[in-house]
Amino acid sequence: MAAQPLSSTDTFIFVVLGASGDLAKKKIYPTLWQLYRHELSPKKTFFVGYARSDLTVSELRRKAEPFLKHSDDEKSRLDSFWEACSYVKGSYDQAKGFEDLNAAMEKIESQHVKGAARAHRLFYLALPPSVFEPVTANIRAHCFGKKGWNRVIVEKPFGKDSASSAALSKHLSSVFAEEEMYRIDHYLGKEMVQNLLILRFANNIFGPIWNRNYIASVVISFKEPFGTQGRGGYFDEFGIIRDVMQNHLLQILCLTAMEKPCTKSAEDLRDEKVKVLKCIDPFNMADVVLGQYVGDPEGTGDAKLGYLDDPTVPKGSVTPTFAAAVAFLKNERWDGVPFIIRAGKALNERKTEIRIQFHDVPGDIFEGQAQRNELVIRVQPNESIYVKMMLKKPGMSFSPVESELDLTYHSRYKDTRLPDAYERLLLDVFYGSQSHFVRTDELAEAWRIFTPMLHSIEREKRKPLQYKYGSRGPPEFDKLCAKFGYKYTGTYEWSKPEKK
Ligand code: NDP
Ligand code: BG6
Repeated sequence: MAAQPLSSTDTFIFVVLGASGDLAKKKIYPTLWQLYRHELSPKKTFFVGYARSDLTVSELRRKAEPFLKHSDDEKSRLDSFWEACSYVKGSYDQAKGFEDLNAAMEKIESQHVKGAARAHRLFYLALPPSVFEPVTANIRAHCFGKKGWNRVIVEKPFGKDSASSAALSKHLSSVFAEEEMYRIDHYLGKEMVQNLLILRFANNIFGPIWNRNYIASVVISFKEPFGTQGRGGYFDEFGIIRDVMQNHLLQILCLTAMEKPCTKSAEDLRDEKVKVLKCIDPFNMADVVLGQYVGDPEGTGDAKLGYLDDPTVPKGSVTPTFAAAVAFLKNERWDGVPFIIRAGKALNERKTEIRIQFHDVPGDIFEGQAQRNELVIRVQPNESIYVKMMLKKPGMSFSPVESELDLTYHSRYKDTRLPDAYERLLLDVFYGSQSHFVRTDELAEAWRIFTPMLHSIEREKRKPLQYKYGSRGPPEFDKLCAKFGYKYTGTYEWSKPEKK
């Protein structure tokens, strides 16, 4: 469905299910506040929290407010945001709570919906997967409004493998239509991830070289400089492959590799992503690197602690906190080009990037001094796009030197606020744009690719390689990159431009 204009006379009710939880406090209320603060959400929007805890709005406010960015002179605006909030207590598996929630929404609507105006409802499930099914069934049975549209936003995990994901999708499809479902992958809301479509398809310079004839390899990386930090209980059940690779990195791969969609409509775009996924076979286990971090005795603070030192992690766990694998796309554009995806926690830096390395220059006349070009799209931190390229060494010399064409967002777009991914995505739900949400068939294809690898790791209890907290991860990753033709010379030197 294409984005639709919002009517200023309509009323919108945004329900946060699981309002007492961590995600709600740290991400959802802060996002709703940002949308309200910047007048991006419609004027007549009301926010209803729902959870089992006995809470008042003031208590909710006390929990969430430390995460709501605001300046001192925004106090009254913040007050009016909280005035638009209410809270309903109820269980996740009994009809009663949902009837109360519906009554609370009807009350708001009876006060604000005038004449022919409509009332729309958005439901955000900030809840553990164990209650997805009863909650969604109850929302459908008791809380869908009749005066406008209803949209439901679901957070990952969307299952743990093909079978469990298919069961969840089957349930969701039995209660909601596809156009009512918004499966969030927050990476699809990031500036540089959204930029891929424009960069690739609104420029004529990239199209002709975006294929196996010019590109030698693509490395898609996610690196975090911290470990599980008490979230080990959740993490251990899923591991880095399900937590980051199967969703965030695979989405980036799709947008990097897909063909140009017929239009930029959500369905055309998602059709192309599904086509990419259909070209990928499950991973070859011989080319999978798994790692788990251990404490660095010389490190400070958390760095001293390994994954297994986290008290919430089961003893002797073999869950990977680092993983790398190689995907091949069997199509005309990409045949033979390795897409190396790598994700790791407790590494040396925070970085998410797409690194496209081009083939060597044919017919070299520079005695091997011309290094390979690389186009790097850095998703975070410090969004930037740079092309590593050869130049004549400036000055009297006539020898090649490695340099770059550099588009650093913080310098080029100094005064532009780059919204958080959740802001973009939640606003998309208001507008009914599903382009940046995961469709059911897309999800099924993603699990088809990852399930054999996950099952094999679990069946064989494959022991991950140890790497030190704060390191670059297991050196086997570099060997994997080299095996698949990625060339690292270590000769490139980046000199940061002086701050003006
Ligand atoms: P490099 O050539 O230094 O690194 C290229 C890649 O090699 C990286 O992916 C790195 O990733 C990997 N690597 C590092 N050490 C090894 C090793 N020993 N063996 C194999 N692979 C290795 O170029 P970069 O593009 O990384 O640029 C260097 C620095 O300059 C970066 O910090 C970059 O952010 C910065 N820069 C910033 C720009 C900007 O802000 N606009 C523009 C250009 C550069 P990893 O360690 O993740 O595996
Ligand atoms: C989440 C993962 O989906 O993404 C986390 O569950 C991870 O483990 C996070 O830390 C990373 O998101 P971002 O936006 O901070 O890169």
